[in-house]
Amino acid sequence: MRLRKSSTLAGFKPLHHKVLQGRNGSKVKLREKKLSDVRNDYKWQCDPELARLDAAQVLAMSFSIYLLDYATALNHATFNRYPLAVETHDGKHIGNCTCYDIDEKKGEAQLGIMIGERDYWDKGYGTDAVNTMVDHVFQTTSLQRLYLKTLDWNQRAQRCFARCGFIPCGYLRRDGNNFVLMELIREQWEKRRQGEI
Ligand SMILES: CC(C)(COP(=O)(O)OP(=O)(O)OC[C@H]1O[C@@H](n2cnc3c(N)ncnc32)[C@H](O)[C@@H]1OP(=O)(O)O)[C@@H](O)C(=O)NCCC(=O)NCCS
Repeated sequence: MRLRKSSTLAGFKPLHHKVLQGRNGSKVKLREKKLSDVRNDYKWQCDPELARLDAAQVLAMSFSIYLLDYATALNHATFNRYPLAVETHDGKHIGNCTCYDIDEKKGEAQLGIMIGERDYWDKGYGTDAVNTMVDHVFQTTSLQRLYLKTLDWNQRAQRCFARCGFIPCGYLRRDGNNFVLMELIREQWEKRRQGEI
């Protein structure tokens, strides 16, 4: 599915330079992607450890080609995905958080997160970024379910998602990797927000 930038899917709308602030005490803010993110994104996608943690391929593309693709994607159209940059309060770009495979009919989307800067691991930035995205999705769209998959040995990621309310809901084996599937249903999110869970 391909969307024009002006389109909305399940209620997802461009932020128009608005920044998503996290919950009280959150360490991060989320903003739309911009061209100056390209160096960090290239660096992170070329990083073998980050690729291994995400069961992804290390990028094998020159920076100039990557830049061309990047600029085209930013300027012309977006797919059924909603990518945001994760920034610290002093404006340092440390990672990305994306909703993708947005399926309006099923009322669900997949969530991805990557904190690319190692110095920011295990300090709550990932949890804050996921909570910020989850709150935004359930507050502004019609989606009923967010889900994700993570490698079964990636305990840090699973702990981060569990802290945000995601619950294991299945397993998947793909290309020799075992993944845990986790989900967060709108109703569960509401209960957590109201302090019932
Ligand atoms: C996965 C990721 C998003 C988590 O974000 P983060 O900011 O590092 O994580 P947080 O500090 O918010 O939470 C991590 C939790 O895992 C815990 N943890 C870390 N290593 C762990 C381990 N080996 N076993 C169990 N728990 C672990 C931390 O103690 C923390 O829990 P706590 O606060 O209850 O103590 C981030 O580390 C990242 O992007 N890593 C690189 C790429 C990656 O793993 N991608 C896969 C995403 S599916």
